Amino acid sequence: MAVVLHLLTFTSILLMYVSSARPPHIVLIVADDLGWNDVGWRNPQMYTPNLDKLATAGVILNSSYVQPLCTPTRNCLMTGYYPYHTGLQHSVIVPDAAGFLPANFTTLPQKLKELGYVTHIVGKWHLGFCNWKYTPTYRGFDSFMGYYNAAEDYYTHYVGPGYDFRFNTDVYRPTEGEYSANIFANRAIDILNSVDPENESLFLYLPFQTVHEPLEVPEKYENIYSHIHNTSRRLYCGMVSALDEAVGNITAVLRERGFMDNLLLVFTTDNGGPTFAGANNLPLRGAKSTLWEGGTKGSAFVYSDTLLKKTKYLNTEMMHAVDWFPTLLHVAGGTADAGMDGMDMWPTISNNAPSPRKEFVYNIDEILHNAAIRVGDYKLIEGNPGHWNGWYPLPSVKEGLPNATADGAAESKNCMVNISADPNYQLFDIRNDPTEHFDISKKYPKVLQQMTQRLAEYKKSLVPANYPPPDPKSNPKYYNGTWSPGWC
Ligand SMILES: *[C@@H]1O[C@H](CO)[C@@H](O)[C@H](O)[C@H]1NC(C)=O
Ligand SMILES: *[C@@H]1O[C@H](CO)[C@@H](O)[C@H](O)[C@H]1NC(C)=O
Ligand SMILES: *[C@@H]1O[C@H](CO)[C@@H](O)[C@H](O)[C@H]1NC(C)=O
Ligand SMILES: *[C@@H]1O[C@H](CO)[C@@H](O)[C@H](O)[C@H]1NC(C)=O
Ligand SMILES: *[C@@H]1O[C@H](CO)[C@@H](O)[C@H](O)[C@H]1NC(C)=O
Ligand SMILES: *[C@@H]1O[C@H](CO)[C@@H](O)[C@H](O)[C@H]1NC(C)=O
Ligand SMILES: *[C@@H]1O[C@H](CO)[C@@H](O)[C@H](O)[C@H]1NC(C)=O
Ligand SMILES: *[C@@H]1O[C@H](CO)[C@@H](O)[C@H](O)[C@H]1NC(C)=O
Repeated sequence: MAVVLHLLTFTSILLMYVSSARPPHIVLIVADDLGWNDVGWRNPQMYTPNLDKLATAGVILNSSYVQPLCTPTRNCLMTGYYPYHTGLQHSVIVPDAAGFLPANFTTLPQKLKELGYVTHIVGKWHLGFCNWKYTPTYRGFDSFMGYYNAAEDYYTHYVGPGYDFRFNTDVYRPTEGEYSANIFANRAIDILNSVDPENESLFLYLPFQTVHEPLEVPEKYENIYSHIHNTSRRLYCGMVSALDEAVGNITAVLRERGFMDNLLLVFTTDNGGPTFAGANNLPLRGAKSTLWEGGTKGSAFVYSDTLLKKTKYLNTEMMHAVDWFPTLLHVAGGTADAGMDGMDMWPTISNNAPSPRKEFVYNIDEILHNAAIRVGDYKLIEGNPGHWNGWYPLPSVKEGLPNATADGAAESKNCMVNISADPNYQLFDIRNDPTEHFDISKKYPKVLQQMTQRLAEYKKSLVPANYPPPDPKSNPKYYNGTWSPGWC
């Protein structure tokens, strides 16, 4: 009896403590175009000591899916809805067309602000800017330093004819000429120095420009890889190491300032690696922009000093980028709206509980006439999965130094065969064939039929893609040479 009472008292004190404790800080780092095989914890060729330390001390996510492209994945992170439910399923938002994340979707920072968080974004937005209402400080962020579009120059911050770099709503010039990984790391550190970790809960969304094209990096990072012949690969790897250093600088300040006592750090890529621009996804098939695993299976991990019950292992439970919204909201003490595509993965991530997710939609693109879904171990692909269909090898290295993995050499023979077969349907067993070598659609017609029926059900809720043509009113010449809101 005494023991029971004692336990009850202890439990209620614990509950009181938990409910009055400040919600944890959340740092969500998104790498742009980082491939499956471009991280040190998987590929010894990569020099990413800071990321490796966090990943191996945290939880490496081995089945964390993302969209094949930038805008759609950012859409998932910010809304918890698949892009085929927001109209962002086709391609990406291009600078001169009026694409946007529709205003009626509540964003993750908006929800976190309701819970008292301070919210900052540093880096790439890529969810629309043709009207102020689509830009970050109108969508839940207290501050924004970064750029609206994609693929700008890392130093000049120009995309085509327009300058694209802002601090909040203002065009920002002081960092013109500076490499963006440094700018963003320094801005993140300024934010950390401005927040009192004991008094405020911080949501820091850090979508780095790195390692998207153009392939640009200061020489000191490129030189780490001087043994790599291929210029694209050498530059790309250097960029990955610059990103790693930026993360190292930021996490050092997180620790110094005391954030780490109550913080969840999430690191994920936005899509698979562009093998046509230095990246590598081996052993996975395909690349960025395709529905293959190489385009959609993301490099990702979570790290926390205090919040994870189980650490230092490979988590193989199924999850998708839409799940971060309800999961992070849960961590913050909130709940997501019913009917959201995303699912709360916190028990899965924090304690390796079985994933509540049994299926997901890779994408449905009615303009390209392709789609893919996963149900259990099976993956159905409808139409042409995309332009890059092979298993692209790692570029060779110089004589006398260790070569790329044996895998790379062996797979290179295959990489040009049977490209764009374009059958109506292909079926894969991802558990037994994670590299998508064996289309089993002919062998298992019943499964194929069930899968096509399931896809048809998903398609019923498709919102038509909003992919408008270029609008001359967007031209930076009307905005003093900058990409600016005001033309939609
Ligand atoms: C936003 O509006 C679109 C179009 O009217 C609708 O399909 C969608 O369900 C709405 N989403 C939310 C979250 O309100
Ligand atoms: C990291 O910090 C060091 C030391 O201050 C600095 O030299 C380096 O440029 C920083 N790297 C990045 C990517 O910000
Ligand atoms: C947090 O800091 C502000 C300003 O320093 C102060 O006004 C406020 O009372 C503090 N809140 C808590 C919960 O300590
Ligand atoms: C270097 O690698 C890229 C892919 O990242 C490839 O397109 C290019 O052909 C390679 N160049 C050489 C000289 O092998
Ligand atoms: C590395 O690969 C090249 C071909 O690209 C080959 O000639 C060389 O022998 C290999 N070196 C080692 C150490 O395996
Ligand atoms: C490529 O297609 C041909 C003809 O359809 C087939 O015989 C061959 O086995 C295929 N190769 C691979 C690697 O799938
Ligand atoms: C992790 O994912 C890779 C790539 O899909 C796969 O080959 C490997 O079997 C997975 N590991 C586990 C333990 O499931
Ligand atoms: C236009 O841009 C230039 C830099 O290109 C800047 O010096 C000038 O102040 C800007 N003018 C206005 C009105 O913003």
